[in-house]
Amino acid sequence: MASITLSGIGKSYGKVDILKQLDLSIADGEFISFLGPSGCGKSTLLYCISGLEDINTGTISFDGQDMTELSPRERNIALVFQDYALYPHMAVRDNIAFPLRQQKVASDLIRRQVDWAAETLGLEALLDRLPNELSGGQRQRVAVGRAIVRNPAALLMDEPLSNLDASLRVRMRSEIRRLQRELKMTVIFVTHDQEEALVLSDRIAVMKDGVIQQVASPMTVYKEPANQFVASFIGSPQMNFLPAALAGRNDNGGTIIGIRPHDLSPAAGRTDGISLTGELAFVESAGPIHFLEVMVGDHMVKGACADPSGLTPGAQLTLTADPRSACFFDAQSGNRIKPQ
Ligand SMILES: Nc1ncnc2c1ncn2[C@@H]1O[C@H](COP(=O)(O)OP(=O)(O)O)[C@@H](O)[C@H]1O
Ligand SMILES: [Mg+2]
Repeated sequence: MASITLSGIGKSYGKVDILKQLDLSIADGEFISFLGPSGCGKSTLLYCISGLEDINTGTISFDGQDMTELSPRERNIALVFQDYALYPHMAVRDNIAFPLRQQKVASDLIRRQVDWAAETLGLEALLDRLPNELSGGQRQRVAVGRAIVRNPAALLMDEPLSNLDASLRVRMRSEIRRLQRELKMTVIFVTHDQEEALVLSDRIAVMKDGVIQQVASPMTVYKEPANQFVASFIGSPQMNFLPAALAGRNDNGGTIIGIRPHDLSPAAGRTDGISLTGELAFVESAGPIHFLEVMVGDHMVKGACADPSGLTPGAQLTLTADPRSACFFDAQSGNRIKPQ
């Protein structure tokens, strides 16, 4: 498969700039996610890479070769969409074979490739079925089969799991990851689901308003977010943001402290760390972990603990955190202030 380099990509619809001076290098065999809220330009960027959309500025190259002016077919990129887009009147076998037939590949090679794709995806028993005789997960697998059957330069997936129910989504996630590793595919995976991106990716490109905010490994975007936007978009429940003064730091209001709920817990007797006291408003039990909402000044702060027995809503509660787990942001720019 191919490496992909995007340089200075700009894309507008009419007068509206959708993608703004985007630079990104994707390695051969890398699994990268485009993550961001709805409307930030993820799909547009995917279509620009595949050639379905033209760009206004910049260049796109695969393995160092300029692809900017080439058609989608010449770029040999496979796309998988959320709605599968299978041909309803064609059996699974023919759906998977379709791109090869279009390329007028010899029929015995088509048969071999379809058998290989079916085996790779566990679809052997379903080859003669029509799409409406398949479950959602099976349909999604056929769409992936159709995408990989012609050995594309890269596999681009646009929210491919969004239509599946929660348990199937989790299962398909691991399947996609296994397949990507096995075939050493270059995969670009578009999602608005931060958990999906964290679990799947080698790297995540976090986007906002057509601008990449940070490109890094899942653990880096989680632990060392570039700015407050990335910090708020990654992790669930969301990171708490507080004026530093509330946590006993003296900095004239120029700093925001960010602490993840998982790092903030009732810990009796600790005085060395960050400490926040207020009225416990609510205990939200989520199985193995319990989230605690505490009203600190006029900020609702969320902490977490393993055992909430003895905690009563209405009572005062002190939550503490190790300062090393906190992030600090410039209140003006939102950028993270790196520890000295
Ligand atoms: N064909 C189009 N014409 C005009 N505006 C578009 C078109 N396609 C997308 N947009 C706009 O571009 C922005 C980014 O859209 P999109 O790439 O679909 O976002 P995402 O996939 O991140 O949800 C949105 O504001 C959307 O309304
Ligand atoms: Mg989209």
